[in-house]
Amino acid sequence: MEYIELFGAQVPRIGLGTWDLKGENCKTAVTNALSLGYRHIDTAEFYYNEEAVGEGILASSVARSEIFLTTKVWPTHLAYSQVINSLNQSLQKLKTDYVDLFLIHWPSDTVPLEETIQAMEDLHHQGKTRFIGVSNFKPALLDKARRISSLPILTDQVEYHPYLEQSKLLQYCQKNQVILTAYCPLGRGRVIGDKVLEKIGQKYGKNSAQVALRWLMEQELVVAIPKAASTSHQKENLEVFDFQLTPEEIAEINQLKRGLRVASQP
Ligand SMILES: NC(=O)c1ccc[n+]([C@@H]2O[C@H](COP(=O)([O-])OP(=O)(O)OC[C@H]3O[C@@H](n4cnc5c(N)ncnc54)[C@H](OP(=O)(O)O)[C@@H]3O)[C@@H](O)[C@H]2O)c1
Repeated sequence: MEYIELFGAQVPRIGLGTWDLKGENCKTAVTNALSLGYRHIDTAEFYYNEEAVGEGILASSVARSEIFLTTKVWPTHLAYSQVINSLNQSLQKLKTDYVDLFLIHWPSDTVPLEETIQAMEDLHHQGKTRFIGVSNFKPALLDKARRISSLPILTDQVEYHPYLEQSKLLQYCQKNQVILTAYCPLGRGRVIGDKVLEKIGQKYGKNSAQVALRWLMEQELVVAIPKAASTSHQKENLEVFDFQLTPEEIAEINQLKRGLRVASQP
């Protein structure tokens, strides 16, 4: 596993996404992932699986302190007291005293960003989240969040895969020391079987999923959180640190962009 070290955080570059995993399936997926070597788990209050994620962590033999755990507050809960309640409830469900990263899941049109960030900062000072960040923020709003916050905005978590360009945001993140966390890094399965990715993968004995993830790993300050329920997919998605793409291959994958968004705004 590779890590990004920033502001005292050590963020594993591949994490396990858990959207759509529920109950026993979710618990088993989390425990399996930890036994395979995953040390980064992504959840959210909106996924209704925090209990199962917490159980999966407890059932594993990995210490909580070795895991980078992220949760998120939903955009209808962004007023000060709602943010406080949201994380307190998440912690209870996750059966832990703190998360490593607490994100605004989507921006709000109604609650001032200042109010939400103040609540997140207070939660940080109470020891309930080590870092704060945002999700689905465009560069201008990310810039506003960074100006408001007295804590670093560790990440902006956005949809990013070979079929969706994020060059403007990525440039902003790289210039300003913000991690870009790629969600739906496999385009929710849409990039699987892509002919260009498969052709490139043949040279390295890798499949299209692994080439898509490797392409993300070639980019400075990018981490990815593919969701995989099965052990075989989880294992494949970790095996992306033993090969490197050439500049020509990276350029070829850059050409695959087609404005495909698979996650929809609430
Ligand atoms: N912040 C946000 O607004 C936001 C929005 C969407 C998602 N997310 C986060 O990002 C995570 C990832 O996104 P996602 O789950 O939507 O999509 P994804 O990770 O791009 O794709 C998941 C799909 O790909 C399959 N898959 C995984 N590894 C594979 C492999 N090696 N070979 C073939 N197929 C493979 C999975 O199948 P199996 O499960 O059967 O293995 C699943 O059907 C989410 O789980 C969530 O944590 C955040």
